[in-house]
Amino acid sequence: MLRDLIIKNRSCRRFHEDVPVERETLRELVDLARLSASAANMQPLKYLLSCEPERNAVVFGHVGWAGYLRDWPGPAEGERPSAYIIMLGDTQISEFTDCDHGIAAQSILLGAAEKGLAGCMIGTVRRKELSDAMAIPSRYKILLVLALGKPAESATIETVGDDGSIEYWRDADGVHHVPKRPLDELILDI
Ligand SMILES: Cc1cc2nc3c(=O)[nH]c(=O)nc-3n(C[C@H](O)[C@H](O)[C@H](O)COP(=O)(O)O)c2cc1C
Repeated sequence: MLRDLIIKNRSCRRFHEDVPVERETLRELVDLARLSASAANMQPLKYLLSCEPERNAVVFGHVGWAGYLRDWPGPAEGERPSAYIIMLGDTQISEFTDCDHGIAAQSILLGAAEKGLAGCMIGTVRRKELSDAMAIPSRYKILLVLALGKPAESATIETVGDDGSIEYWRDADGVHHVPKRPLDELILDI
């Protein structure tokens, strides 16, 4: 069910790095994005796939992890993503990507969750450096990086507490807790 899949689809930042994600799997996930909505149906998104250790290491070196986990420097060797999808905007098609990359990213991550994989949208990207390192032509703008792999951590949703904090946190057992605002707070009673 979609609700179950959405609940399962938590951002994951530690993986079984030794379990590969095949290029064909990444292609299937991008196909879900291809079939998703696009403003004015311009379809300006393009994708770079990475599922080889050397290429993954390049991507890993240019992304930032879990700003609220201040004492955690990011996944250690062995728990890093086995694959990445770099989402690009093709400026020759459109200068604007509107909401397209968010929609596409969600389609990809839901598809990954359905396959027993997990991932994380990463907006903290040293874009210029990653573009240079991957020799990405200047017509393509890096929008988001999606990290993917077999999950090696579990996460749970909780309701934002009285302190109002929306910061995710990790407990002593390594479980990742994600506070979500309550539904009645989101739907305005106007
Ligand atoms: C546009 C966007 C950018 C994000 N960038 C990062 C990031 O740079 N690093 C990271 O670790 N998580 C990043 N995240 C993941 C969020 O931290 C995560 O969605 C949030 O904590 C809620 O957790 P959930 O996805 O499990 O609901 C990003 C999420 C979105 C939607």
